[in-house]
Amino acid sequence: MPPSAAPSPERSHRQPPEWVLGIESSCDELAAAVVHHGREIVSSTVRGQDAVHRPYGGVVPELASRDHVRGVSEVVARALADADLAPEALSGVAVTAGPGLIGSLLVGLSFGKALAYRLGIPLVGVHHLDGHLAAAELCDPRLRPPYVGLVISGGHTALYRIAPEGAPQLLGETRDDAVGEAFDKVAALLGLPYPGGPAVSRVAESGDAAAVALPRPLRGTPGLDFSYSGLKTAVALEVQRRGALSARDVADLAASFEAAAIDVLLDRAGRAMAAEGVSRLAVVGGVAANRRLRRELAGLGRRQGFEAVFPPPELCTDNAAMIAAAGARLLARGAAHGLGLNAFSRVPLGDAPWARPAAE
Ligand code: KG4
Ligand code: ZN
Repeated sequence: MPPSAAPSPERSHRQPPEWVLGIESSCDELAAAVVHHGREIVSSTVRGQDAVHRPYGGVVPELASRDHVRGVSEVVARALADADLAPEALSGVAVTAGPGLIGSLLVGLSFGKALAYRLGIPLVGVHHLDGHLAAAELCDPRLRPPYVGLVISGGHTALYRIAPEGAPQLLGETRDDAVGEAFDKVAALLGLPYPGGPAVSRVAESGDAAAVALPRPLRGTPGLDFSYSGLKTAVALEVQRRGALSARDVADLAASFEAAAIDVLLDRAGRAMAAEGVSRLAVVGGVAANRRLRRELAGLGRRQGFEAVFPPPELCTDNAAMIAAAGARLLARGAAHGLGLNAFSRVPLGDAPWARPAAE
């Protein structure tokens, strides 16, 4: 099999293949899912590692990949069993090829390659962010390009224009920390358990968002970039100033941080929607599970005349249904990346090297 083959134009409008297995292992979640005709999620299983990483307050890459090795056969078997499907019935395998932790990526990729080889079916590599965006399209069939995608996760904070043809266009991205990373770091500062995002937003519900004045970096400035390291540092300084924190302090700081982080997301998303002249904003990635953000972005959309589309929370955080859905689209266009497919720790969306034709 050649290491890579570009979709051929004459095969570009086929139906998505019937049964696609997705595998996602880019960070600390190991997931497998079966999607029917690229649209219907038939099974989706996620094996998290919160207990593995909690003692360290963040993901330890070597522990993540070792745990993936232990779980990968079982997770894939469970996805097939939940779909009541024999492996031989699969039409193709889609696996996250990047970006992510290289050791973690290699576990899912190697397993996917071996399975596709044994079954004699095509294998495609999927960009993790393409997967997140596919989750929104999967959940709302009215969401069709052109639209704007706001990708907010532990590793990414970016706005893209998604066109019907061609690569997604990067409109703006974070200059330093990702917003999910800021949630995780603030959780650690406040003594809240890993993973930080859900913990901060839970505690914030009983806090006063106006209690602590925090900066809103880049809000109201031209351009569509983001910055979160200054906000995180402001929380760190406030924690230092207060010394021992009461439960009230923790709730107020969490609520004030969450409000500031969300204000910036609203400002940038609102500007992007005004500039791009499209009617839908897809909000994806782990931070899109945040309840306050969903409420406030939906409100902004009503005021500004656009619709904010969010996958359900379980499809915002890492999962394999989104990888299967994105992979089904590639397979429908005739893509097959073969056994030479590699994993990439960093790779821009729209510039996946594995999707280019192999060098002559
Ligand atoms: O997409 P994801 O599962 O993994 C990456 O690709 O990074 O996103 C994980 C990130 C973490 O930083 C986590 O703290 C954050 O999403 N997150 C949240 C919430 N749920 C997950 N952040 C804020 N509020 C939440 N409810
Ligand atoms: Zn993700």
